[in-house]
Amino acid sequence: TGCGLVDLFGRRISYLRLSVTDRCDLRCVYCMSEDMTFLPRNQLLTLEELDRLACAFVRRGVRRIRLTGGEPLVRKGLMELVSSLSRHLVSGCLDELTLTTNGTLLAHHAQALARAGVKRINVSLDTLDAARFRAITRRGNLGVVMEGLLAAQEAGLRIKLNAVALKDVTEHEIHDLIAFAHGRGMDLTLIETMPLGDVGADRTDQYLPLSTLRRIIESRWTLTDTSERSGGPARYARVAETGGRIGFITPLTHSFCETCNRVRVSATGVLYTCLGQEAQVDLRTPLRASEGDALLHAAIDAGIRAKPRGHDFAIAGNGRPALSRHMSALGG
Ligand code: GTP
Ligand code: 5AD
Ligand code: SF4
Repeated sequence: TGCGLVDLFGRRISYLRLSVTDRCDLRCVYCMSEDMTFLPRNQLLTLEELDRLACAFVRRGVRRIRLTGGEPLVRKGLMELVSSLSRHLVSGCLDELTLTTNGTLLAHHAQALARAGVKRINVSLDTLDAARFRAITRRGNLGVVMEGLLAAQEAGLRIKLNAVALKDVTEHEIHDLIAFAHGRGMDLTLIETMPLGDVGADRTDQYLPLSTLRRIIESRWTLTDTSERSGGPARYARVAETGGRIGFITPLTHSFCETCNRVRVSATGVLYTCLGQEAQVDLRTPLRASEGDALLHAAIDAGIRAKPRGHDFAIAGNGRPALSRHMSALGG
């Protein structure tokens, strides 16, 4: 089972998003409900199991691993996992090991991440206004994230900021976000909200299509589309005035599933082959069934064979989520 992972639509799977916890210290309004219940910790894969699972995917040709959550940095011992996984970078079997984080614990971990071979990270930041940041995250402190960004840059990590496009927020702040990110040498990626899980709010009240946002951006900045890709679904445009890039992730207005290269594994060891579909295969049972990996590889193969053609997200007229699973269960 040393062969690569190719699905029935000819898409090669080279990118693994590995969720290490469903927990998070924030409660972003588009991601979670106020009163989220999290999984009992004994349901999670151990660090050793996460390592073994990642290794199995690397054997099958995965070239990039992104650790996600919840918030990956709240997982105890995460840095040990990162250090362990970095052996695949050293051996040349992996091109990139990275993570997506909310930045609250970045100041503590930036140096260690850089030392382990992480080159760039994605940090979620939807607003530069402290009060609004508190309102969106329901409990975050913007100053702490700003310190995290600084620490990451001092450690030499490249940063991409992720901003979810939010109605009545991002229209007003987009110019400041661009100036902030590009002024500090960071890319900025804008994301359409996906209707995953009940967040206790009407999705139609949050949703801002990126086509609208792009028109607002172009009233002030000169954009040139590029063919550059970062491994994910973003399409990038360069801003003439800053030299920086803006990424557009448009699951609702412009699907990108034809070129999907990824799968994700939840912190409980369930393989999900599409963020917007229920298709799933349990990997924890075969992982625990024997020390050999034959059963595990068979389960991975079954999952890849059943990878859906794509998602069919839509902000339904009633504002209800299409899938009951929250974004935090899979880390995006
Ligand atoms: P790079 O391109 O490697 O920098 O990362 P990325 O943009 O793929 O990852 P990140 O974790 O920063 O995710 C940004 C947003 O893209 C999140 O809202 C994710 O949910 C979303 N996203 C990532 N991959 C997919 C995908 O396959 N399908 C959909 N619909 N959304 C995705
Ligand atoms: N739709 C789109 N993006 C989301 N994120 C969290 N929830 C959603 C959602 N419902 C983003 C976070 C983070 C990334 C992993 O996913 O802001 O940047
Ligand atoms: Fe936490 Fe990220 Fe979800 Fe916000 S979007 S609640 S930071 S997992």
